[in-house]
Amino acid sequence: MAVLCRRNMAYLYLVLSFLLCSGFGFAELEKFEQSINGDGSLSFLVIGDWGRRGEFNQSEVALQMGSVGEKLGINFVVSTGDNFYDDGLSGEDDPAFEESFSKIYTAQSLQKQWYSGNFPLHYPYLITKLAEIFFIDTTPFVKMYFTNEEGHTYDWRGVKSRKPYTANLLKDLEVALRESSAKWKIVIGHHAIRSIGHHGDTEELINRVLPLLKTYNVDFYMNGHDHCLEHFSDKESPIQFLTSGAGSKAWRGDVKEKNRDGLQFFYDGQGFMSVELNRSEAKIVFYDVFGEVLHKWSTKKELHSSI
Ligand SMILES: *[C@@H]1O[C@H](CO)[C@@H](O)[C@H](O)[C@H]1NC(C)=O
Ligand SMILES: *[C@@H]1O[C@H](CO)[C@@H](O)[C@H](O)[C@H]1NC(C)=O
Repeated sequence: MAVLCRRNMAYLYLVLSFLLCSGFGFAELEKFEQSINGDGSLSFLVIGDWGRRGEFNQSEVALQMGSVGEKLGINFVVSTGDNFYDDGLSGEDDPAFEESFSKIYTAQSLQKQWYSGNFPLHYPYLITKLAEIFFIDTTPFVKMYFTNEEGHTYDWRGVKSRKPYTANLLKDLEVALRESSAKWKIVIGHHAIRSIGHHGDTEELINRVLPLLKTYNVDFYMNGHDHCLEHFSDKESPIQFLTSGAGSKAWRGDVKEKNRDGLQFFYDGQGFMSVELNRSEAKIVFYDVFGEVLHKWSTKKELHSSI
């Protein structure tokens, strides 16, 4: 099993992992210590479903990410997956890496670590005192991919058996969440738990992942997959569901049930999201291709805990 970290001359690099040597059959959480700013704050951008050689406004979104990234002094970038269309990367030297990544996200402020899920079998797990960020491989939870209902074919090398694989993911997630003492807990997957976009809710995640997120007071679940931007709140818990899957081709007008409970915001064009955290507050902002703010949301936490 290997993690591929490729750097280009501009220090832009992406934590990718491939099934270069499979056989083990379980995803591994890979821990990263991510430093935070001197004033105790942390900020990052979230983008998903982006790699289309600059087309479908990918370049426009990238430009605005650069300027928001600079304004906020971001610490890193999170990708919610589906990074290279149509079929991912064929290997380390696939030209799509340059054409859809290095040559697109060129702004100085984006020359930071990019963390990405949706590349089995390694999943980053970022730890700071302020926040812990867990990536979870949501794909094997989705039954449809194994029954081939959509007519797509999937590469399941490495995921030998779906049941033990997903059970192991949940166990890792549970241990990590239980042991976390961070102020903010964030879980990132590719598929939405709540969405009114094209794919809608992912029932398997509602049944198997959401209960854990609620038990351990996860603050945010972030995902891509539906090519839109959206924000849902939950009635029974503080968790916020945030979709940022609008990095290139958006699905205009592809919307289900517009008046869903808990829906705070939905946008069917391209854009991205920023997250700013400190000990007392979290702030989420969504932007369009012009860098205009589409939606803002923030929440406060009491300061009496140990960090
Ligand atoms: C790019 O974004 C603009 C503004 O939202 C939109 O009008 C246009 O249709 C988008 N282009 C594509 C190819 O999606
Ligand atoms: C962080 O902390 C200060 C107060 O300590 C607050 O005024 C500021 O706006 C906070 N928010 C963020 C998201 O940085």
